[in-house]
Formats: sequence, C-alpha cells, structure tokens
Amino acid sequence: MNGVHIILMGPPGGGKGTQAKLLQDRYNIAQLSTGDMLRAAVKAKTAVGLEAQTIMESGRLVSDDIVIRIISDRMKGEDCEKGFILDGFPRTLVQAEMLEKLLAEQQRTLDKVIEVRVPDEMLVQRIAGRFSCAQCGAGYHDVFQQPRVKGVCDFCGSTRFIRRADDNEKTVRSRLQAYHAQTAPLLPYYASKGLLRIIDGALSIEDVTENIEKAMAV
Ligand code: AP5
Repeated sequence: MNGVHIILMGPPGGGKGTQAKLLQDRYNIAQLSTGDMLRAAVKAKTAVGLEAQTIMESGRLVSDDIVIRIISDRMKGEDCEKGFILDGFPRTLVQAEMLEKLLAEQQRTLDKVIEVRVPDEMLVQRIAGRFSCAQCGAGYHDVFQQPRVKGVCDFCGSTRFIRRADDNEKTVRSRLQAYHAQTAPLLPYYASKGLLRIIDGALSIEDVTENIEKAMAV
C-alpha cells in the first residue's frame, strides 16, 4: 500500500489539530487523532472511555495498550487508503515501535515527522482560548481564529460550541510535563532516521501551514 503518511508532533495547544485538518484537505488523506478518538469514547461511555476519562482530565497519558488498540483499528478504515496524518500519536517510545510494526504490516512508509515547535509560555493562552463546534468539531480560538460570523460555525452553521474538560491551566501544566518527559524524547529518534522537520509553530496559522508544505517537499 502506498500513500502519504505524516506524524504531527508538538506540545499541547501547539496547533497539531489545526494543521492536521488543513493537511487532510491538502493531501486528501485521513486525520487520525488519538485525542479525538479517546474523547469520542469518553462521550459514548464505552469501557475504553470510562478507563481513559480520569487519566485525560488529570493530564497524564492513557496507557499504551489502549491507544495502540484504537489506532490500529482506525488505520484499517477505508478513508486511510491514500494515507493519513497522525495527530497526537505516537507519544511514547513503545507507541513509536508499535507504529513501525503496524506500518510495515500494511506496507506503508512514513514520509515525514513534523514537529510544530511552540514555546511553553504561549501554550496556556492558546489552550485557554480554544473552543470548538459542538456539531462538526471545527476548532476556533477567542483571539486567533474566530468564526466569520460571531456565534455561528463557518462549516455547518451550528450555534453551539464547547470547551474541553482538560483545557484548564492546572491540567495544561501536567500535559506539558508529560510531553517533555515522555513524548519529546521521540524527536531525536525520528531525527536519527532523517524524517524529522522542525517548524516554527509560533507563527500565524497560515504561515505554519505554508512552512509544513515546504518541509514536505524536502
Ligand atoms: P490531544 O487531544 O492529543 O491533546 P494535546 O496533545 O494536548 O493537543 P491539543 O489537542 O490540546 O492541541 P493541538 O496541538 O491539537 O492544538 P490546536 O490545533 O487545537 O490529547 C488529549 C489527551 O488524550 C492527552 O492529554 C492524553 O491523556 C490522551 N492521549 C491522546 N493521545 C494519546 C496517546 N497517543 N497516548 C496516550 N494518551 C493520549 O490549537 C490550540 C488553539 O490554538 C486552537 O484554539 C487554535 O485555534 C489555536 N492555534 C493553533 N495554531 C495557532 C497559531 N499558529 N497561532 C495562533 N493560534 C493558533
């Protein structure tokens, strides 16, 4: 199987989800966000959701077993035929090793690992202002990315918006801690394979997208 396979890495609130949605349209591939999958499981009150909920609200990482199970199922989806963008996975060395195995089994090759790099001090403001459409999930920000018409989703016209349970300052600090301790060590791992491209995520959303597209070409 061929196609485009990208990993988006970066701290909580760094812009992975925002960029993944734009790249999904650009390359016509699926966005696979383990955070979104886990939130859907929490909402549906499945066994996985019930186990994950408290961990997510504390800002720690959900167990490798659970995450690997949900992502490996999702990779078999029809919408993954042309490839996918992994948003928020892998986050530990065990997950990275398992991903390599899954890709090899499905004859897929990883094209690039994009690190969206943002200084810690910008992240609390990004996360505190984030909200999304309750109907279609489109993401917005109080300051940086408002709907074109105030209170109305640009994509589906819904007027209902939600904020995430883990988007508060205390949880953000522990998510950041988890990122630096468990996920950032994967960056040298992918650099050693020649796959890592570092993007300045402190720039505007449009500039970050443009720089990712340039990085995909080299
Ligand atoms: P997850 O949902 O993956 O959350 P996260 O990594 O903390 O990342 P976020 O979704 O908060 O941020 P983002 O980088 O997508 O930023 P966004 O584009 O929204 O994970 C949640 C939890 O699930 C984890 O804590 C863990 O418990 C569990 N989990 C998930 N995956 C797991 C795994 N693999 N293993 C174990 N546990 C796992 O942008 C943020 C805001 O900023 C938005 O409002 C946006 O509009 C705005 N913005 C974006 N870019 C810019 C820009 N360039 N300039 C200005 N504003 C911007």
